[in-house]
Amino acid sequence: MSTSVIVPAAGSGVRLGENRPKAFVDVGGRSILWHTVFAICEYSADDWFDLDRIIVVVPADLMVAARHEAQSAADNAGRGTEVVVVPGGAERSDSVRAGLAQATGEYVLVHDAARTFTPAAVFERVVGALLEGHPVVVPGLPVVDTLKRVDQGGRVVQTVDRSVLRAIQTPQGFTADALARAYADAGDTATDDAGLAERAGLPVQVVEGDPLAFKITKQWDLRLARTISEGRD
Ligand code: CTP
Ligand code: MG
Repeated sequence: MSTSVIVPAAGSGVRLGENRPKAFVDVGGRSILWHTVFAICEYSADDWFDLDRIIVVVPADLMVAARHEAQSAADNAGRGTEVVVVPGGAERSDSVRAGLAQATGEYVLVHDAARTFTPAAVFERVVGALLEGHPVVVPGLPVVDTLKRVDQGGRVVQTVDRSVLRAIQTPQGFTADALARAYADAGDTATDDAGLAERAGLPVQVVEGDPLAFKITKQWDLRLARTISEGRD
């Protein structure tokens, strides 16, 4: 069953504070975008992953650099994967919507460029659950810290039951129809794609995520990413 992967990489990386959009920050000699595209191309060699194309969504002023990075990653992986690069928008949802216009195939995965080290097994679990018939599938992890609700002054209002909570990652998987429904309302925004699907009334299934699917968001994450990269050389 053929699948497109949309890679939103059009954010500016304010929390990382590297003076350039996050996707172009270096980890072990390659950009974050390069690593992510390379990994997806590599995984597509496996039987369970019938990859149609990768759609990379980037800042409009970095289209040329992004095309170079993405094509270099695809060429290095050597699977002949088709890579399409399109300009993103102000919000993540705008970027995904721009990518969606280029999606082909029966299923669409949306995978943050910033989740550079996401293992193949996470993609496999998401694709597997889609093939079982779930229209929307997200990877998630149990929350390890104790969670407390606080008021504006920092005073604890309540300790939250974490056993029913999951920290949600990407790739998030959709039937093409479900993703189109999720994004049907042009003005709608959410921090993840499944959030829009929920609002559209679609059931969202959680499969097991992986700590390695962490998102490079702040300096600490970048340090971790560089350490992981060094360990792989
Ligand atoms: N993203 C995007 N378009 C946007 C905003 C975000 O394509 N307008 C992408 C980012 O490039 C990233 C993913 O969505 O791969 C997750 O977003 P986030 O971690 O918030 O990245 P940034 O928005 O770049 O970071 P920040 O919020 O710190 O500025
Ligand atoms: Mg952001």
